[in-house]
Amino acid sequence: MDRELVVEFARVTEAAAINCAHWIGRGQKNEADGAAVEAMRSMFDTLNISGTVVIGEGEMDEAPMLYIGEKLGKGGPEVDIAVDPLEGTNLTAKNKPGAIAVMAVAEKGGLLHAPDMYMDKIVVGPGAKGAIDINLTVEENVRNVAKALGKDVSDITVVILERQRHEHIIQAIKAIGGKVKLISDGDVSPVLLTGLPGGDVDMMLGVGGAPEGVLAAAAVKCLGGDMQGRLVPENDAEIVRAHSMGIDDLDRVLMLEDLVKTDDVMFIATGVTNGDLLRGVKFIEQYVITHSVVLRSKTGTVRFMETYHDYAKKPQYVKLK
Ligand code: FBP
Repeated sequence: MDRELVVEFARVTEAAAINCAHWIGRGQKNEADGAAVEAMRSMFDTLNISGTVVIGEGEMDEAPMLYIGEKLGKGGPEVDIAVDPLEGTNLTAKNKPGAIAVMAVAEKGGLLHAPDMYMDKIVVGPGAKGAIDINLTVEENVRNVAKALGKDVSDITVVILERQRHEHIIQAIKAIGGKVKLISDGDVSPVLLTGLPGGDVDMMLGVGGAPEGVLAAAAVKCLGGDMQGRLVPENDAEIVRAHSMGIDDLDRVLMLEDLVKTDDVMFIATGVTNGDLLRGVKFIEQYVITHSVVLRSKTGTVRFMETYHDYAKKPQYVKLK
């Protein structure tokens, strides 16, 4: 994929972030999500790509826009696209840190078509590549990661979604003297902190969305980190769904190479609310200011972009309500 596309893709997540920013702190997560979806969808029409949505807002009959299988772009290289126009709908509705607009793009066939269900995930940065095994206990993994990083277990910080289902993980980490960083929502952006210098996070553990898992895997691939996942179906319908998407063995450990099957992938995110990774959308005078990160696996470049959009000149992109 041409590196020129990097900026084009950033315009997509910028548009999504800007359009839903009006909904920050208004307690209406669906409206916020809808605004992000709409802006992301229309921006795709301006791009010179032949894209197919492989992770999106749902099936064609469930989602009017960005549904799985939808074709995007004006024509160009064939790419697979995973989107989460608003990752952190609750965070946005409650004006809490860490909401982002996010997407990943890979050459055709490069991303796992993950069903909309839970996935158990373990993620580390490049320093601990090869040191994780989802079949081992929490304690064993934390110890192995600490060893790989040359750290004491007491210096290891693990990000975990604060959920009842993760209580045993939290207790296990505390019992061996490690540190936990609890997040209320949004398990994609902390993954980048595991792989960025100064991210202050060593691992991410626990069960979150499988689509978010593939987005996270794209970032991990770009950063040279490591990840394993395992689908966690909650009912028969989800099992049937996984089978229909070509995943026969639901117990199978999904390695990073299963989640992202190519060396040519890009990850793009724009902050909606302020967070540890990205600053949120700001409206100052005639500008809307966005903060984005763009990762490219081919070169390993991590590019942060602060963009001042003069919205008086870009009414088609920036719809203030
Ligand atoms: P939204 O879909 O509301 O943006 O939520 C995102 C998210 O927090 C993900 O980051 C995470 O993987 C998943 O939801 C966790 O699901 P649950 O809230 O059911 O534990």
